[in-house]
Amino acid sequence: MGIQEVFCSEYWEARYSAADRVWSGRPNRQLVAEAADLRPGEALDAGCGEGADAIWLAERGWRVTAVDFAAAALRRGERQAESLGAEIAGRIRWRQEDLTVWTPPERRFDLVNAEYVHFPPGRREPFFRSLAAAVAPGGTLLVVGHHPADLEANLSRPPVPELFFTAEDVAAVLDPAEWEIEVAAARPVPATDRDGRPATAYDAVLRARRRA
Ligand SMILES: C[S@@+](CC[C@H](N)C(=O)[O-])C[C@H]1O[C@@H](n2cnc3c(N)ncnc32)[C@H](O)[C@@H]1O
Repeated sequence: MGIQEVFCSEYWEARYSAADRVWSGRPNRQLVAEAADLRPGEALDAGCGEGADAIWLAERGWRVTAVDFAAAALRRGERQAESLGAEIAGRIRWRQEDLTVWTPPERRFDLVNAEYVHFPPGRREPFFRSLAAAVAPGGTLLVVGHHPADLEANLSRPPVPELFFTAEDVAAVLDPAEWEIEVAAARPVPATDRDGRPATAYDAVLRARRRA
C-alpha cells in the first residue's frame, strides 16, 4: 500500500463501499476511557468513519459535528443514528469535508476527538493545530492513533512508518501556556496479529485541556 493511497478519499470511499461495515460499531476504547466523565456540550469528531464515536457521544447528551470525507461512511453512521431514534439522530450533524482543507471553527467545541486519523509529517502538524484551535476554553482535545511501537509487532498495519505518531508528537503543537496535558501515553491494547495470535498493540493517547 503506497502512502498516497492511504490518504485519498477514493481509497476510503472504496473501502467503505466494499463492505456492509468496516469497523466494529462500538465506540473506541480510549474515547470511552477519557470522555465518559466529561460534561456533555459541543463535540467535533474528526474522521468519524461510520460514526460509532459520534453516536456514543450523542447518547450521552453531546451535540456532535461528525466529519469525514467518505460519503459511504457518513451515510452508514447517519442511518445507524436514525435507527436509534430522532433524539439521538437530531444531536449529530454529519459533514462531508476533507480535513486537510476544511478548518473547523475556532474555540467552538468542548471536546474535539480524532481517533486513528493518520497523516504524514508535514500534513499531520497542521491537522493537529486545527483540531486544537477548535477547542473552546476549558474544553478537551483527545487525539488517539497507532503508536510507532506497532511497527515492531506482526500487526495488520499499513507498512508506512511515517503514518504513526506518539502522544508527544501531538503535544508538541500545543502551547504549554494555553494547554494542560492530562494524558500523554502509549497505552497497550489487546490485539490479534497477522497469524491470528494474541498480541499487544499500542495506542498513542493525548488528552489535553485548554486552560479556561
Ligand atoms: C482509520 S479510520 C477511523 C475512523 C473512526 N475515527 C474510528 O475510529 O472508527 C480513518 C478515517 O479518517 C477518514 N479520513 C482520512 N483522511 C481524511 C481527510 N483528509 N478528510 C476527512 N476524513 C478523512 C477516513 O475516511 C476514515 O473514515
